[in-house]
Amino acid sequence: MTERSDIREVAHWIRTSNYTAVLTGAGMSTESGIPDFRSAGGWWRQVDPRKVATVEALETDYPFFRDFYRARIEGLRACRPHRGHYLLAEWEAKGWVHAVATQNVDGFHLQAGSRTVYELHGSLHTFRCHDCGSPAEEPEFMEGRSCSRCGGRLRPNIVLFGELLPSDAWEGALAAIRWADLVLVIGTSLEVYPVSQLPSMAKGKLVFINLEPTAEDGMFDRVIRGKAGEVLAALDGELRAAEA
Ligand code: OAD
Repeated sequence: MTERSDIREVAHWIRTSNYTAVLTGAGMSTESGIPDFRSAGGWWRQVDPRKVATVEALETDYPFFRDFYRARIEGLRACRPHRGHYLLAEWEAKGWVHAVATQNVDGFHLQAGSRTVYELHGSLHTFRCHDCGSPAEEPEFMEGRSCSRCGGRLRPNIVLFGELLPSDAWEGALAAIRWADLVLVIGTSLEVYPVSQLPSMAKGKLVFINLEPTAEDGMFDRVIRGKAGEVLAALDGELRAAEA
């Protein structure tokens, strides 16, 4: 864990910021038991993303694609948001956080009570037909059914490599990050475009809470090395102490 003085200083920035945006990645949810993508034990160490996370994968080997996401959705059912997700929601209610942009598709920020959430890579909780775009329900996808309108291939509403990000989420996140005087980036390798570009668009202070070093550490005003849930709890301790 980082120096206590860093925690104090970042807590002070949170308290005195007029608008704080948070950007999260898979490292935000590993403490809930969901693997990230690129760490040892991450998804992309076990399966080639080109085989499951691209439009080409869906179109050339749909059964493999469907089975991979069915397994991820099954895995997700056993997991819950952790204290860090709940703290971000509490901070929003207290006016310390104003928007959360996330690359995560687990829906945990919403489940924990965050209100202004931009799901930049979509969600594993809603579904549609890849072929005609009609909305579909989770059981239809999980049971391996075809689209009831056109017989097409059902899929979760996640963003695959080769697809555009949902424009509402992207524009909301971009505006929040540009507007913010503090941006907290949590648990992401910042390797995936275009989200990797968002921190560089911030005009305010930039803080990075991440377990491992990344190539982007140099752009941040403070890097706090540690687990998201633990660091957020330490910051919350400082925020509460200052409030008392
Ligand atoms: P990555 O797996 O690339 O990076 C996760 C980062 O979180 C790593 O730098 C870890 O060190 C860090 N980390 C892990 N556990 C942590 C913890 N408890 N606390 C703090 N940090 C922790 O995941 P993302 O950057 O989110 O996209 O990946 C971005 C995108 O790549 C994903 O949204 C997904 C993937 O391909 C698509 O599928 C489109």
